[in-house]
Amino acid sequence: MNASPRFHGQTALITGGGGEIGLAIAKRLASEGAAIALLDLDPEKLERSRAQLIEAGATAENFVCDVTDIDAVEQAVSAIVECFGSIELLLNNAGYQGAFSPIHQHPAAEFDKVIRINVVGAFHVLKVVSAHMVERGYGRIVNTASMAGVQGPPNMAAYGASKFAVVGLTETAAKDLAPHGIRVNAISPAFIGPGFMWDRQVQLQAEANSQYFSTDPREVARQMIDSVPMRRYGGVEEIPGTVAYLLSDDASYVTGINVHISGGIN
Ligand SMILES: NC(=O)c1ccc[n+]([C@@H]2O[C@H](COP(=O)([O-])OP(=O)(O)OC[C@H]3O[C@@H](n4cnc5c(N)ncnc54)[C@H](O)[C@@H]3O)[C@@H](O)[C@H]2O)c1
Repeated sequence: MNASPRFHGQTALITGGGGEIGLAIAKRLASEGAAIALLDLDPEKLERSRAQLIEAGATAENFVCDVTDIDAVEQAVSAIVECFGSIELLLNNAGYQGAFSPIHQHPAAEFDKVIRINVVGAFHVLKVVSAHMVERGYGRIVNTASMAGVQGPPNMAAYGASKFAVVGLTETAAKDLAPHGIRVNAISPAFIGPGFMWDRQVQLQAEANSQYFSTDPREVARQMIDSVPMRRYGGVEEIPGTVAYLLSDDASYVTGINVHISGGIN
C-alpha cells in the first residue's frame, strides 16, 4: 500500500533558508511533498538553496527579508500567501552566533545584534505566521534553538541567552496556539560539522583564551568531541528527520517540547 507523502499539498516556510541547516530541512520536506518558501536576508545564499531544490525537482521560491524588521516580515508572509495560497509548516530557523568572549568583555553591540536576530526576529516570524495559521485553524511550527539554550556555554552570553529565549517562546507559543490547532516544538542541535559553523566555533573558542578550552583550535575540536557521549559531531543530515517528524501528523499529540539533537549531551 502506498501512503501519500506526509506534506503533500502543504507549504513550508523556512527562515534562514539560505543557510546549511535550513537547506537540508527544505530538501527533506520537499522530498515528502511540501512546496518550499525560502526566506533569508542574503539573496545570494537564497538563490543557491533554491537552485539545489529546483534541481531536486522541488517547488521553491525565494523571499528576501530581514526578520528583525516586523514590517518586512509582514510583507514577506503576505507575498508567500499570495504565491502559494497558504502556509501550513514553519521552520523558524534564521540565526546568528555572534562574538565569543567572557561576559565581562562581551561586546554590547554584538549582544544586541544576536538578541535582535535570534529572539526578536524569531518572535516576529512566530507572531505573523501564527496569525495566518490561526485564521485557518491549522499549523505546525518548529523553532531552531540550540543546546546553548539548554546549558549556558562559556563565552557565548548572547547566543546562549537568545536560545534559552527561543525555548521559552516555544513553550509559551505551544500553549497559546494549542486551542487553534497549531503545534509548536523546538529542536536543539549541539555540535554540527564539518563546515563553516564548526570551524568558526572551534577557532573562536580557542581565541577566547578561557579555562574551558585550549588556545589551539585542533585541541579545542578534540575537547568538544570528548564532551559528547557519542564522541562525534552531528552531521547536518542528522537534523531533518527530527524536524519532519515534529511537523508531521506522526507527532499529532506532541507540542511544546525541545528535542535535543546532541549525541547525548543533555
Ligand atoms: N550549525 C550549528 O552547529 C548549529 C547548532 C545549533 C543551532 N544552530 C542554529 O541553527 C540555525 C541555522 O544555522 P546554520 O548552521 O544553518 O547557520 P547559517 O549561518 O548557515 O544559516 C543561518 C541563516 O540565517 C540567515 N539570517 C541571519 N540573520 C538574518 C536576518 N536578520 N533575517 C533573515 N535571515 C537571517 C543567514 O543569512 C543564514 O543564511 C540557527 O538558528 C543556528 O543558531 C546551528
